[in-house]
Amino acid sequence: MSAKPPDGLTVPDDGFWPAPRIPQPNIYPMQWRVETAKLAAIYEKSKRTVWNPAELPWDDLRADDFTARQRLGIMYWFAVLANFDASGPAVFARATIQAFEQHEEDPVRKCFFSITRDEMNHEECCQRAIARMWPGGPLDWTPRTDLERAAHNNIGWLYYNGGRYWQGYNGAVRKYPLAVLFTSFMMGEMAASTLFRGMSSGTRHPVFREMFHRIGRDESRHLQICMTILEKEWPGLSEDVKGQITRQLRAGFVFLSMILWEPPEGFWDLPPYFLANHRVLMDHARDAGLGILSHEEQAENWRLAMARVRAIVERWGIEFPAIPELDIDGIDVDVIDPEDIIPVF
Ligand SMILES: [Fe+2]
Ligand SMILES: [Fe+2]
Repeated sequence: MSAKPPDGLTVPDDGFWPAPRIPQPNIYPMQWRVETAKLAAIYEKSKRTVWNPAELPWDDLRADDFTARQRLGIMYWFAVLANFDASGPAVFARATIQAFEQHEEDPVRKCFFSITRDEMNHEECCQRAIARMWPGGPLDWTPRTDLERAAHNNIGWLYYNGGRYWQGYNGAVRKYPLAVLFTSFMMGEMAASTLFRGMSSGTRHPVFREMFHRIGRDESRHLQICMTILEKEWPGLSEDVKGQITRQLRAGFVFLSMILWEPPEGFWDLPPYFLANHRVLMDHARDAGLGILSHEEQAENWRLAMARVRAIVERWGIEFPAIPELDIDGIDVDVIDPEDIIPVF
């Protein structure tokens, strides 16, 4: 007979019963494993550099300072940006849940969360800029002119495609290993940091300059997070995974070109007039001083970003896809399906 347990404890005679196994994938059991100190440091930095989009001097962004066409153009550009930046919170929230379920080390989960947090700020910038320029935008307004009807219709098509991406992503996020997911994210962040760097120096409006500068800084940090995770994931990849990454890089180009440049063939399901109207609307946004680069400058910028991605992945023996649209040679990748597309901003 054992002695009486202290403090009201119950100690079973036949020993403690082991808790049942937790079915996986599952966010339990909780643990805080740290393998990559650098990621933990980036997370700390992200907390210190948080900013509040509500505190940008929005009153200085006056609708009266623009013509109706310029306002429509600016709204249209932010509606296009929102296809990427406003999906960010949901995309990374899901990736955060996935990281918990896969029991990734704690700094990975926390960095995903910080990207989710930042993307919500970028999403808020889209929301606020659109509200200042075009109340009811992007879609909850009634167009009255042909230009307005074209804008409204294009945005509808854009979000239809965004919806296809979201459905694909939901399937993809569980399907792909971290190395594949993160190479795609890395490409998105490379695209985003390139875009906002170009626009913050190109815009003529101080509110946009401040906004693009801050968003660009966040995107550079996201890129750093992706690179740090990938440096861990890339060594020892199988040929099969490398092939998936090559395919993902092409998917990333096709998807991101909508905001970086112009939508290529291969994923976007758009009516035949979309591109012509897109160009007209982008020109009005350009004319408003938003900071959109010229078509040629955009192509050059995009080419440069792709060259950076290429240099990074080739170090790890991952082949780069052919991008004939930008005269980049490489491996031919056939049709891109919505499930292939992962990149976000
Ligand atoms: Fe980002
Ligand atoms: Fe973003």
